[in-house]
Amino acid sequence: MSSLLKAVTLEVIRRQYGARWGSCRPSWTPLLLYPLSRRVASPTVADWLLRLPLGAAGVLMGTRFTASRESLWDQAMKDATLAAGGDQTEQTRVFDIVRGAPWPAIYPGRALKNTFSARWNGREDALSAEQKQQEEIYLKTAPDDFGTRVVWAGESVDLIKDSPAASEIIERVVAQAAEILAQGAKLVRNTPRTV
Ligand SMILES: Cc1cc2nc3c(=O)[nH]c(=O)nc-3n(C[C@H](O)[C@H](O)[C@H](O)COP(=O)(O)O)c2cc1C
Repeated sequence: MSSLLKAVTLEVIRRQYGARWGSCRPSWTPLLLYPLSRRVASPTVADWLLRLPLGAAGVLMGTRFTASRESLWDQAMKDATLAAGGDQTEQTRVFDIVRGAPWPAIYPGRALKNTFSARWNGREDALSAEQKQQEEIYLKTAPDDFGTRVVWAGESVDLIKDSPAASEIIERVVAQAAEILAQGAKLVRNTPRTV
């Protein structure tokens, strides 16, 4: 691989996953696998695929499975997930604060934007100060009032268009991984060597 391509590969990984990847040895595999993540509709699949060649042993995949048949989410929440776009999501702590949830503040979750988050984002201290009153108001709203209530969702929620069985999601991931790897291998074979 040319040094320019190595630098670009490294930069893609660094931008996607932060500076901690900066010292990793560049590899073609992440670039070949990245398009798959767009197809299986979860950015965390990209995490998984990119980290495997770097030594990872597992994957977290949340949003895709919330819209699976076995998910315990209410139908209204699943419907909100299916209807949402990635641009409608944001990282926020306000839903954890209002519920008094012991979620670590350094890992803010990603959720669908709504009137509640618009009101309190940037005013987390004020929300904490009146947590008890605000939680009471929050809990008085209907469970499917998503203008106030939280729907956790990752950025590529816009690619989630159905609620299949969890087993089918896994089968799709595996089938698409095999397909993308085969396509990627073909690309590498057909690239003329420059060094
Ligand atoms: C079932 C479920 C529960 C979650 N609960 C929380 C939570 O209590 N607090 C929080 O900050 N984020 C929560 N999240 C959001 C995740 O931290 C994450 O930001 C979001 O799901 C997007 O990532 P993903 O694509 O891996 O799902 C939850 C996500 C899911 C799927």
